[in-house]
Amino acid sequence: MANNEYTLPDFIADLDRITREEASPHVITEKVEPLLTRLIRNPEALPAEYRKLGPGGKRGRYMLHRAPRFNVTSVVWAPGDTAGAHNHDTWGVIGVIENRIEETRYRVAPERPEHARLEITRVMRHEPGAISRLVPGDEVHRMHNRTSRDTVEIHVYGKDLAGLERKTWSEDGAEKRLVSSKYLNC
Ligand SMILES: [Fe+2]
Repeated sequence: MANNEYTLPDFIADLDRITREEASPHVITEKVEPLLTRLIRNPEALPAEYRKLGPGGKRGRYMLHRAPRFNVTSVVWAPGDTAGAHNHDTWGVIGVIENRIEETRYRVAPERPEHARLEITRVMRHEPGAISRLVPGDEVHRMHNRTSRDTVEIHVYGKDLAGLERKTWSEDGAEKRLVSSKYLNC
């Protein structure tokens, strides 16, 4: 039986081609957005084992594909789970598969060493099928599952985030290093 659904291998092949042909984060994320939209519309795209919370009910994180110029993961946010304001140091495209997530974007103005002024630029409440693009200059965000159900997403990033030197900011603008030896894919 013919299956015309767009699958994860199709998506990975397209990501490989796009990241080979393009270098601009804006162009890459513009091209990836409609493809991730197609992928997350396919109910079979993500097997059940990658849609569940991690051990102890913690955030689920699963590597779906790791390549030199991009990687694809799934992230499962428990009810109330939140990731404070943080950067990624690369482009990203996030698609919501199940339930909803609140994303707050910030403009970061350094004030003094290890301290910045964070200005909220927008608050988005993403529904299933929604896509969020991260590009240099607009990639600092906070994520929060304010619902009583798990939220499932697919994330695509242009760098391997394991061991990457990143930053996180508290509400008052205090800056901390964010480096994880494990894959911290959000
Ligand atoms: Fe993030």
